Amino acid sequence: MRVLVVGGGGREHALVWKIAQSPLVDKIYAAPGNAGIAAQAECLGVGAEDIEGLLGLALEKKIDLTVVGPEAPLTAGIVDRFGDKGLRIFGFDACGARLEGSKVWAKEFMTRHGIPTGEFRVFGNVTAAIKAVDTGTPPFVIKADGLAAGKGVIIAKTARDAREAIGRILKRHEFGAAGDRIVMEEYLIGDEISILALFDGESYRVFVSCQDHKRALDNDAGPNTGGMGAYAPVPFYDAELDARVRSEIIEPTFEGMKSEGVKGAGVIYFGLMVTERGPKVLEYNCRFGDPETQVILPLFKSDLASVMYEAVGGNLASVPFENSSETAACVVIASGGYPGSYNKGYAIEGLEEARERGCVVFHAGTALKDGALVTNGGRVLGVTGMAPTLRGALDKAYGGVDVIRFTGCFSRRDIGKKGL
Ligand code: AMP
Ligand code: GLY
Repeated sequence: MRVLVVGGGGREHALVWKIAQSPLVDKIYAAPGNAGIAAQAECLGVGAEDIEGLLGLALEKKIDLTVVGPEAPLTAGIVDRFGDKGLRIFGFDACGARLEGSKVWAKEFMTRHGIPTGEFRVFGNVTAAIKAVDTGTPPFVIKADGLAAGKGVIIAKTARDAREAIGRILKRHEFGAAGDRIVMEEYLIGDEISILALFDGESYRVFVSCQDHKRALDNDAGPNTGGMGAYAPVPFYDAELDARVRSEIIEPTFEGMKSEGVKGAGVIYFGLMVTERGPKVLEYNCRFGDPETQVILPLFKSDLASVMYEAVGGNLASVPFENSSETAACVVIASGGYPGSYNKGYAIEGLEEARERGCVVFHAGTALKDGALVTNGGRVLGVTGMAPTLRGALDKAYGGVDVIRFTGCFSRRDIGKKGL
């Protein structure tokens, strides 16, 4: 089988790494890929958002299965477009991707299907939103409706901060059209957990539970990022909680998608808050998480290429799907300045040593310059360690992190601490 992976970050490297292990796969292409992906796939110079370009590639290279990493092509309808041409593609259509693409849509979907989530109101005008702040109590959770590269959620501790956030989104249009409307949501208290499940329109399968670390610095300080590390599984996600999440959240979501005519097979990432009153949905993503994928896939024992291929055909129930009982931890090494501005092009050293220490090193923002590996993004590498225990996985991952160097590199030192 010939596979095309769309995207070029750490998540896509993990996808390529796992797909390459399948005996069914003869050749992998990536668009655009990165320097690490290039070791296992042929990287093609087409961007992840160039749907017509990708379609041309899939036809020209006679691709049997396209796997989409990021959300933007999914919300833009890549699955609909490929489907029209009879091409097999893993992901949901634009209707399904709206669960991530519009927070207003996602909240209304949850209301329609009785899925637990925080109370909310939607505003499209500044005056009404400010009035809600003036009559409400902090903290205020304010979310831009559309895709905002992970920056569209603001937790305002005071009414003043909330008014400021409303001004930035609705008046000054800092997120463009993504901020034409906002969701103001109940502040939920509890433990966050990410559950990723694969759905083919009929059956579903769940990967191991995991936890992301969104803030840039230790102890959840500093600005929000795409994710600075992850670990799996999460100790408090026991059989009882799993049963509740399945029956109260996963199953009604998939039933709802089916009844509303969503087409395709893909992954839904459930961002959950486990509150005193049970699990509630904070957000849906219509794709694998980054860096969550860098711990979930190393713990996935079955043949991912076969699972995805069969899922697209509606046969998910017929293929083996098995998670390991081990533990994995991934620590992201980022460029100094990230998630703000940072420099690129610094030489990266120590990858071989990290591998000798038993780590799997996933590339996120790397490139080759005159044959040398250099930094090319905010999140540069994800270093994953696996072991029977979380302590062991963390020691292994940090053992790798400690021997990798580039100018300005930094990582959090407390990944997985909550799980110990
Ligand atoms: P989201 O992109 O919707 O997952 O939001 C980013 C982060 O904001 C989440 O990971 C939570 O830590 C936090 N968050 C979002 N919604 C809420 C909420 N309703 N209550 C408390 N924290 C929230
Ligand atoms: N790490 C968060 C996400 O992929 O959405």
